[in-house]
Amino acid sequence: GKEIIVAPSLLAADFSNLKKEIQEVEKFGADFLHLDVMDGNFVPNISFGSPILEAIRPHTKLVFDVHLMVENPDCLIHLFKDCADIITVHAESTKHLNRTIQLVKSFGKKVGVALNPSTPLDFIKYDLDNIDMVLIMTVNPGFGGQRFIPEMLPKIKELRNLAPEIDIQVDGGINDKTGKLAVQAGANILVAGSYIFSGNYKNKINSLKF
Ligand code: DX5
Ligand code: ZN
Repeated sequence: GKEIIVAPSLLAADFSNLKKEIQEVEKFGADFLHLDVMDGNFVPNISFGSPILEAIRPHTKLVFDVHLMVENPDCLIHLFKDCADIITVHAESTKHLNRTIQLVKSFGKKVGVALNPSTPLDFIKYDLDNIDMVLIMTVNPGFGGQRFIPEMLPKIKELRNLAPEIDIQVDGGINDKTGKLAVQAGANILVAGSYIFSGNYKNKINSLKF
């Protein structure tokens, strides 16, 4: 299979010490930095937006993996043109997903599409050739520290069969146990927030490189 990419989620970091937190996970083997942007509308929580991402961008070489949990992403995508490497939009958040995918690409960014736990793979079936990464949500988005939903494992397997080459990211409740199950099912990019930031960053990141 593909090499495992570990993406610590900044949502679980110490917000009063962002620069240090980011440089630590970078030093200890993180590949991506997962950045959860929440608008208090698509999800019942507010996190941070592009000004914060622009402030931290010069302090790390990590790939900026921006997970947009916002309504009407088409109006906001341009805000991330100077800081994001990958922009992931939720299939449920836009009326014209194919157009939104093209919009992300028009900024020269890699494009991810996220699916909430109840959203079927059929939603993206005809767009798979235009997508770099599919994010299978393994919790309902909005908060860190929730429990992994095991029913997502067959969904990951099904997607891997459908698209053998695509990057499959999982996000929510990932630790060394659930991460392993997700990788066995076919995922290759593991997002982890509370698991990594609650312990020794080096050990935690290494424990996810299956
Ligand atoms: C949830 C976010 C996740 C979150 C994961 O809405 O998309 O990225 O930070 O947190 P953990 O790993 O603690 O479940
Ligand atoms: Zn996320």
